[in-house]
Amino acid sequence: MQVSTIILAAGQGTRMVSNLPKVLHPVNGKPLILYSIQAAKAAGSNRPVVVIGNGADEVKKTVGDEAIFVYQEKRLGTAHAVMAAERALSEFTGLILVIAGDMPLLTPETLNRLIGCQQDNSGPFAMLTVHSEDSRGFGRVLRGMNGEVRAIVEESQATSVEMKINELNVGAYCFSSDWLWAALKNIELSPTGEYFLTDLVSIAVSDGKKVQAIVLENEEESLGVNNRIHLSDAERIIRRRVNESHLLAGVTMADPNLVYIEEGVKIGKDTILFPNTRLTGKTEIGEGCEIGPNTIIDNSKIGDHCHLLASVIECAVIEDNVEMGPFCHLRKGAHLGSGVHMGNFGEVKDSFLASGVKMGHFSYIGNATIGENVNIGAGTITCNYDGEHKYSTEIGEGAFIGSDTMLVAPLKIGKGAKTGAGSVVTHDVPDGEVVAGVPARKLKGK
Ligand code: UD1
Ligand code: CA
Repeated sequence: MQVSTIILAAGQGTRMVSNLPKVLHPVNGKPLILYSIQAAKAAGSNRPVVVIGNGADEVKKTVGDEAIFVYQEKRLGTAHAVMAAERALSEFTGLILVIAGDMPLLTPETLNRLIGCQQDNSGPFAMLTVHSEDSRGFGRVLRGMNGEVRAIVEESQATSVEMKINELNVGAYCFSSDWLWAALKNIELSPTGEYFLTDLVSIAVSDGKKVQAIVLENEEESLGVNNRIHLSDAERIIRRRVNESHLLAGVTMADPNLVYIEEGVKIGKDTILFPNTRLTGKTEIGEGCEIGPNTIIDNSKIGDHCHLLASVIECAVIEDNVEMGPFCHLRKGAHLGSGVHMGNFGEVKDSFLASGVKMGHFSYIGNATIGENVNIGAGTITCNYDGEHKYSTEIGEGAFIGSDTMLVAPLKIGKGAKTGAGSVVTHDVPDGEVVAGVPARKLKGK
């Protein structure tokens, strides 16, 4: 049977104390709402319908095509929010999953269990519950003599006896569409001035229909983010899940609590990640590397057997056997060939360093193409910017650039050419020629 999903995300999120809508707060680099959307899709749902209200425009912009949006004008409770989604699903027949946009730990497996439960249910819906000592303000699940679900009582309405019930409503449901829309219209306004979706349980039961409940196996999945303590709890759990999947796939981490890896990053086996390493975006790392301590890699591709110590690498490509650091910075468009050695305090941007290039100390290379086995002396700088335009530098293979050389672009240094220490090179240098001085001139007899 087809499954559609409604994600409730119109609430204010006051307790976040934030200018950002609650569901846009990132957890391990990804906005909260995307966890619900992606879990629903992974469980086989059609494109989810997200009910938005607070910060609607921002939420829409961030989520884009991943969902369909409906706007809930006034926030009159969870049932009212589901009603707002009717116009997007009026043609749909099948199962309707309803979840909240602030529960990032619910897994597709759990949603599948819930969907499967309703598929086998002759009654109108199935719900998810959790046994927990910490009630967290959740609704309490009331069961009858034979264990059948009879009602959900919201904490604001619960008697002192009901308050002690430790089976809680997680807030995830799977409805049969042909029952849902009509039943919603029977919900009455609660004393708190809201329409409670949870009233559907007693409505079904009093109509002689059976509501199924399945119990969460892992309590942590029921975490809902209402404040920033919850947000950090979710972050820790998601990060642990991601790190464990890499550990089981052959990646070593001396201390997984100090390694930050966004979902989707790929890491080869026998790579070691040292503390305070952060891998983000579409980063891919090969096998047998040693990364960190203190290394940040964003949207970059790293080959096999690289050692990257205490460096920052953004939108760059590094081939095999590269040694780097400490304190290097690769910026957008940096590409290091295999076996490149980059010592401390080097910066490379929009440049290709062919295999075997050595750049040991304090250099800046921008808008340059450097041939194989070039030696770049300490303090060398490509002067690539004249205040208005960027110019490129080309250095032929095997060239030797002396310490503190200023390469004033546009410039071409020939194969095997040499520059003396402290040269300011303003004109092209032919293959094999040796230049020195300010401005650099050909050395006679060399
Ligand atoms: C709800 C359940 C409660 C359950 C708990 C689990 C009801 C009445 N109660 O409680 O039994 O234990 O979730 O977290 O459903 N929302 C809207 N529009 C609204 C109101 C809410 O979109 O008008 C959204 C919120 O943004 C949130 C979700 O619905 O994502 C749940 O709303 P919330 O107010 O947190 O529900 P609770 O009262 O905590
Ligand atoms: Ca809540």
